[in-house]
Amino acid sequence: MPAAGQSLEPIAKKDLSNAKSPIWHTGTVLLTSIGLGFVFNRSSDPLLSCVGFSVLAYVLTNALIPTLGPSFIKVGFYGRDLGKNNKPLIPETMGAVCGLVYMSLMFLFIPFLFYKYLVTETSGAGNRDQTIDTAVHMIHTGRQLSMFPHSKLAEYLAALLSLFSILVLGVADDLFDIRWRNKLFMPVLAVIPLMVVYYVDFGVTDVVVPQFVWSLLHSGTEYSPPPTVNLGIYYYAYMLAVAIFCPNSINILAGINGLEVGQAVVVSVFLLLNDAIYILRGRISGSVHPAAEAHLLSTYFVLPLLGVSIALLKYNWYPARVFVGDTYCYFAGMVFAEVGILGHFAKTLLVFLIPQVINFIYSAPQLFKLIECPRHRLPKLNVETGLLESSRVEFKIAPTGLRKNFLSVLAKIKLVDLETDRAGKIKSCSNLTIINLVLTWTGPLREDKLAIVLLAIQAASCGAGLIARHTIAPIIFGRDNI
Ligand code: UD1
Ligand code: MG
Repeated sequence: MPAAGQSLEPIAKKDLSNAKSPIWHTGTVLLTSIGLGFVFNRSSDPLLSCVGFSVLAYVLTNALIPTLGPSFIKVGFYGRDLGKNNKPLIPETMGAVCGLVYMSLMFLFIPFLFYKYLVTETSGAGNRDQTIDTAVHMIHTGRQLSMFPHSKLAEYLAALLSLFSILVLGVADDLFDIRWRNKLFMPVLAVIPLMVVYYVDFGVTDVVVPQFVWSLLHSGTEYSPPPTVNLGIYYYAYMLAVAIFCPNSINILAGINGLEVGQAVVVSVFLLLNDAIYILRGRISGSVHPAAEAHLLSTYFVLPLLGVSIALLKYNWYPARVFVGDTYCYFAGMVFAEVGILGHFAKTLLVFLIPQVINFIYSAPQLFKLIECPRHRLPKLNVETGLLESSRVEFKIAPTGLRKNFLSVLAKIKLVDLETDRAGKIKSCSNLTIINLVLTWTGPLREDKLAIVLLAIQAASCGAGLIARHTIAPIIFGRDNI
């Protein structure tokens, strides 16, 4: 780590590429071979192909970021690293590279995902005659339409279309720096294709609620499991809220190297662990449970995201050589929202996003302008010590009335650091993000240590959420969809 005051300019100028190293070459060849081996696995298992594509996603992103980084700077996609002494200029919007790799591989994955239907059970794979007979038989019995799972393909394509839209909107945001209150609602547009497909093909608007909530809502009726409540049109509003929340909540828990992509990596790992519980259970018991199918689809979307994200994290970790940009935050958040919506496990998803939920609620007074919100709320570098300190809002006019009382209460319970003058007027307060809050509690920290603390909080919260989801939740809800 460079000492305080030491120039960090060489980091910005350094060639991003490690391609000259023989280890890099060997590693790339090895990983590519492993990836291809999984993609073309002998059992034509889409899950194994997805593992292969995710390894390739890592390899490609890892190779493309250093190659494309300088070109991004040339066309104006760059930002200044505000957490460093001399604020070096580095490429931004690397989420576009991740998005490009992700989308390309997801398109290539389509034939592998539907291999069974496209080849084995139809006219390919050398069983043409037999399958034609079967098809004719199916036409007679009226069952030919179910041969190919069109609804599954529609879900998959709609999810990709939504991701593509959010990528375009994210790049537009990185280009034009769209105003916060406008960009808050950008995911609404992107999620429309997904919601239409959900309505047409799935349409379930029931949610499982705890038994006592069910009993409260159905007073006088004898309890009959499952304890579900039909939200009707409100379910679509709820999905919309999830789609708005996920991308934006990642984008505002940001501002220190490695944090945006780091949190996405942690959440992805826990989503995959949750998926694995359902998938492995299904595979061991040999049954095809609808929840297992949904979690399989979730894995197909989250695993390649993990692949591109790990490669991005390598370059975005302290001292960052690239920035992820709003493009990445929206993209990763949208993947999470999509799997939560399509998999019908939005509540579980929110359990994994507890730090983001807390940060959103804690930020609300600034987001909704009750308290001034500066353009950047990221921590401030103390150039003397080289450590980050919480950044502050300096009040031109001291808050009075409700605003003053609100801040005083927060200060009393140590949720904000207030600076007052002798007359008791509030001069400044720490910005309302959990990043600054951690710094208020711990004191100044080096940027990478702060990122580690925040990611450890994320992992601990996800871990506790996962355990609670599979131990306490079945008791509260009276059932488990496993
Ligand atoms: C959100 C936050 C803002 C925070 C910013 C940091 C809200 C309402 N908005 O705004 O407070 O400052 O993210 O990403 O909470 N940067 C660094 N180091 C990093 C990451 C980013 O210095 O590790 C700086 C760079 O100058 C970069 C810029 O932040 O160019 C990116 O900011 P941008 O993503 O455009 O900010 P917003 O998402 O609008
Ligand atoms: Mg941002």
